[in-house]
Amino acid sequence: MENPSRVPLLVRVATALLLATSQLATAYDLNPDSRESITSISKQMAEDLVAFYKGNEPGQTPGLLPDPYYWWEAGAMMGTLIDYWYYTGDDAYNNITQQALLFQVGDTNDYMPRNQTRTEGNDDQGFWGLSVMSAAEYNFPNPPADKPQWLALAQAVFNTQASRWDTEYCQGGLRWQIFTWNNGFDYKNSISQACFFALGARLALYTGNQTYADWAEKTWNWMIGVKFINTTNWYVYDGADVETNCTVLTPYQFTYNAGGMILGAAAMYNYTESQVWKDRLDNLITGSKVFFTGPKSNIMAEVACESVGTCNVDEHSFKAYLSRWLANITKWAPHTYNTVMPYLRASSIAAAKQCVGGKNGRMCGLIWSNNSYDGTTGVGQQMAALEVTMANLIGNSSAPLTADRGGTSQGDPGGGGDDLGRDQPNGPDYAPINGGDRFGAAILTILVIASVIGTMGFLFLDETSGQGPVAQLKGCYFSAKGFYYSASAAITTFAAGGGIAAAAAAGRKRGEKEKGVVIKEKVVTKSRDSGSNGSLQGSSSNNTSTEAPLVINQSARHSRASQRRSSNMPIGWPQNPSLRNSVVVAESSSAGASTEGSSSNRRL
Ligand SMILES: *[C@@H]1O[C@H](CO)[C@@H](O)[C@H](O)[C@H]1NC(C)=O
Ligand SMILES: *[C@@H]1O[C@H](CO)[C@@H](O)[C@H](O)[C@H]1NC(C)=O
Ligand SMILES: *[C@@H]1O[C@H](CO)[C@@H](O)[C@H](O)[C@H]1NC(C)=O
Ligand SMILES: *[C@@H]1O[C@H](CO)[C@@H](O)[C@H](O)[C@H]1NC(C)=O
Ligand SMILES: *[C@@H]1O[C@H](CO)[C@@H](O)[C@H](O)[C@H]1NC(C)=O
Ligand SMILES: *[C@@H]1O[C@H](CO)[C@@H](O)[C@H](O)[C@H]1NC(C)=O
Ligand SMILES: *[C@@H]1O[C@H](CO)[C@@H](O)[C@H](O)[C@H]1NC(C)=O
Ligand SMILES: *[C@@H]1O[C@H](CO)[C@@H](O)[C@H](O)[C@H]1NC(C)=O
Ligand SMILES: *[C@@H]1O[C@H](CO)[C@@H](O)[C@H](O)[C@H]1NC(C)=O
Ligand SMILES: *[C@@H]1O[C@H](CO)[C@@H](O)[C@H](O)[C@H]1NC(C)=O
Ligand SMILES: *[C@@H]1O[C@H](CO)[C@@H](O)[C@H](O)[C@H]1NC(C)=O
Ligand SMILES: *[C@@H]1O[C@H](CO)[C@@H](O)[C@H](O)[C@H]1NC(C)=O
Repeated sequence: MENPSRVPLLVRVATALLLATSQLATAYDLNPDSRESITSISKQMAEDLVAFYKGNEPGQTPGLLPDPYYWWEAGAMMGTLIDYWYYTGDDAYNNITQQALLFQVGDTNDYMPRNQTRTEGNDDQGFWGLSVMSAAEYNFPNPPADKPQWLALAQAVFNTQASRWDTEYCQGGLRWQIFTWNNGFDYKNSISQACFFALGARLALYTGNQTYADWAEKTWNWMIGVKFINTTNWYVYDGADVETNCTVLTPYQFTYNAGGMILGAAAMYNYTESQVWKDRLDNLITGSKVFFTGPKSNIMAEVACESVGTCNVDEHSFKAYLSRWLANITKWAPHTYNTVMPYLRASSIAAAKQCVGGKNGRMCGLIWSNNSYDGTTGVGQQMAALEVTMANLIGNSSAPLTADRGGTSQGDPGGGGDDLGRDQPNGPDYAPINGGDRFGAAILTILVIASVIGTMGFLFLDETSGQGPVAQLKGCYFSAKGFYYSASAAITTFAAGGGIAAAAAAGRKRGEKEKGVVIKEKVVTKSRDSGSNGSLQGSSSNNTSTEAPLVINQSARHSRASQRRSSNMPIGWPQNPSLRNSVVVAESSSAGASTEGSSSNRRL
């Protein structure tokens, strides 16, 4: 009774289906309940992460990732590899992890290596500190006895940071940058405090030393006092400029800021066992729901930049830390498990599904909530997908250790040496900064930031709207996309290489500020529709051949090692008047000319 004419149709349909599913079949199909599924996918993701790292190869520097990745991200990645070992038991990368962690310790064993110090921020140092703290908490194989030990390294980082607590402005807090000549010296940012806070809380827990807890408490109080944490909605904002006494907030929210505060609050809760810290923790977790999108509002997104396509290299990795830290807190605050895990599970399934990129067909992109691969690959994307995948194993994994409960890492409460309170470099590599160098250092710190008005999703949020932030964001996502692809067609982003070259060629454009140096950076306009492949648009394209290859494609950023910006924070726009100067488009043609009626205008 078959109708023969339908057979070919069925065949066609079946074939089409097969084709479609065979494409899908290449994506990871994660079963978050199966250890086997989680570990086998994690193994492949880890392989693809480590493939970016060359530091262990002959002639390379252990602990550095190739351009465009900054020093801090390598430290964060070592933390991910510790996590990988802890969750899966696979020690394949332990040697390179230990080698990298020990190579970058610097002269006084506090993660201030000379090659990085001049542009090092507290947050950069903090990420290395958090990684060695994890090594201590999980008895990651201890270094040989003649080498600095994990706990001692974490303590030294903590000590140097405590000595930088700055009461000159904003009645406390850490500045973003360590040294005065770096532009971000005038900015106090949440992630620097969050790293210090979480490190202090974890040291208190590990060592039982109340001094660390006092510092964590103080940092928390300061964050509340300057309103970097909003105690109404429990959002964590990015930071503020010292010249306003931290009264004018930079409103962007990034996953790692919230994550770092959540991590420290959980450790403090475990340390104090107090209702006060439990409430703080629970409130922050509620606030962090702002980062979950998708139809069920349960898929993690870097909402400030994903929705508008402007995440920079650093920002590609931030979800790794929120994933890692949300998993961690379920150990220190077991009552959070049932709240947090559904979000991590849903996010991990979504993250794994979109890993179909690259030559091997399994590289992960940035955006998890779109059911499709976004075409990007990188250390950050890979690290984030791996962390969220492994987070599914936390329920069956052992709790962090303390000195009393099995932790074997040796400490040194007095670590930090000459770097304690150092405000000027010394030694041959620390020669007094001359004009040219100062210029270099400052620009290294401030470039490569795509924090331009109109490119940060959260600027679209209307606090007074009845809709929740996530609902608003969803609306905004699509309108932002429309904006992105049609109306604007032009996205501004900073030229790293080109910015340096052009600005260096035109040193007169730099203006001195009281503190630090203001550089007028170049802005490049990128036009998607024109199929730009990274050249400057407009008149300055004639000059690109004399400059380092220009930015735009994130993965093509920074062609020269010397152009590393070591800090990881987006600088505040638009609230921050002093920094605003530093990112104004330079006037002449040597700066990136904007097409489309000057996206630079939008920025002011
Ligand atoms: C966790 O352990 C339980 C009990 O051994 C097991 O049933 C479950 O599958 C495990 N889950 C994962 C994700 O490993
Ligand atoms: C790690 O280093 C040790 C000692 O050098 C060596 O015995 C071991 O095989 C190495 N492991 C791996 C996975 O490379
Ligand atoms: C510092 O840079 C020099 C030159 O590139 C390199 O040989 C050395 O290994 C680096 N040191 C660290 C700790 O990265
Ligand atoms: C977080 O968990 C990872 C793996 O679970 C571990 O390596 C790291 O030490 C943990 N950190 C904290 C703060 O528990
Ligand atoms: C804090 O959140 C509340 C509620 O969303 C909002 O009205 C207020 O403006 C926020 N405060 C700051 C400083 O952003
Ligand atoms: C910042 O606060 C300090 C002390 O509270 C005060 O002396 C200073 O004048 C303030 N600066 C500004 C710009 O408000
Ligand atoms: C503190 O952490 C330990 C180890 O994870 C856990 O067993 C204990 O229940 C936690 N304490 C509190 C108050 O949650
Ligand atoms: C979302 O996915 C659709 C296809 O499913 C694709 O056309 C679109 O570009 C994606 N959006 C982003 C922001 O990646
Ligand atoms: C506790 O930590 C502080 C700050 O690092 C240190 O000065 C003090 O010596 C430590 N106390 C003990 C008993 O280790
Ligand atoms: C891409 O760059 C190459 C040289 O770097 C140039 O020849 C080519 O025209 C560019 N393509 C587009 C679409 O701009
Ligand atoms: C490059 O310079 C030439 C003359 O020097 C000019 O005619 C041309 O328009 C410039 N190209 C661009 C893309 O601006
Ligand atoms: C290239 O830029 C320099 C200044 O940065 C300028 O003097 C020169 O005229 C430019 N060359 C072209 C061909 O535009």
